[in-house]
Amino acid sequence: MTPHIEAKKGDYAPTVLLPGDPLRAKWIADNFLDDARQVNGVRNCLGFTGTWRGKPVSVQATGMGQPSTAIYVHELLEHFDVKRLIRVGTCGGLTTKLNVRDLVIAMTASTDSAMNQSFAPYTYAPHADYGLLSRSVELAKTRGFTWHVGGIVSSDTFYVPDGVNSYGDLPGHGVLAVEMEASVIYTLAARFGAEALAICTMTDCLVTKAEIDASERQSSLREMVELGLDVGIGA
Ligand code: HPA
Repeated sequence: MTPHIEAKKGDYAPTVLLPGDPLRAKWIADNFLDDARQVNGVRNCLGFTGTWRGKPVSVQATGMGQPSTAIYVHELLEHFDVKRLIRVGTCGGLTTKLNVRDLVIAMTASTDSAMNQSFAPYTYAPHADYGLLSRSVELAKTRGFTWHVGGIVSSDTFYVPDGVNSYGDLPGHGVLAVEMEASVIYTLAARFGAEALAICTMTDCLVTKAEIDASERQSSLREMVELGLDVGIGA
């Protein structure tokens, strides 16, 4: 038991899927996992453990943003022997080269968060685990998904004031999309010697203002979750 997770040692599988939304964690447990049981309910930040294709897998909500995410990820890595973290989330596109519904497999995750400034006088470059990244690309290819591998940015700010270009020239430096959690997941995985990958469905484009529609949203999330689970168990 930790300050934010009431589970006992052994309650989490070595592989944990990380959606932001607690109700999405429950949806994943209810719709994908066999024999799922709830292992965390503190603050309603729900966690579940079950099996996927016969292999143990957990799913733990992170909440929104990096400070919240870091609390759950740190406790999972330090106290629950978690070895593999797969974020399954949504992102906003920063370039017209991508379309809503596309999958963004994040090779790197830049950030405007101050969290990484506390441990090194460098601009640290948080990156995905190569094995998880390459496996996810192979699976995405065989499933006929439209996918992109590249950099994303994990921003602390969802509502940017009018007239402020808070992503600067990141798109001009190859950054494909914005979300709010991946960078600190990569950083903490590196710190604890674990593997991490973020796979995101693009739900909106910040350039064209296009948005995924409700029916496409559900099927896209389904495809992403299945991909995340298969990557997580090494399928
Ligand atoms: N900003 C941050 N996170 C997001 C967005 C966005 O526009 N879309 C989906 N996740």
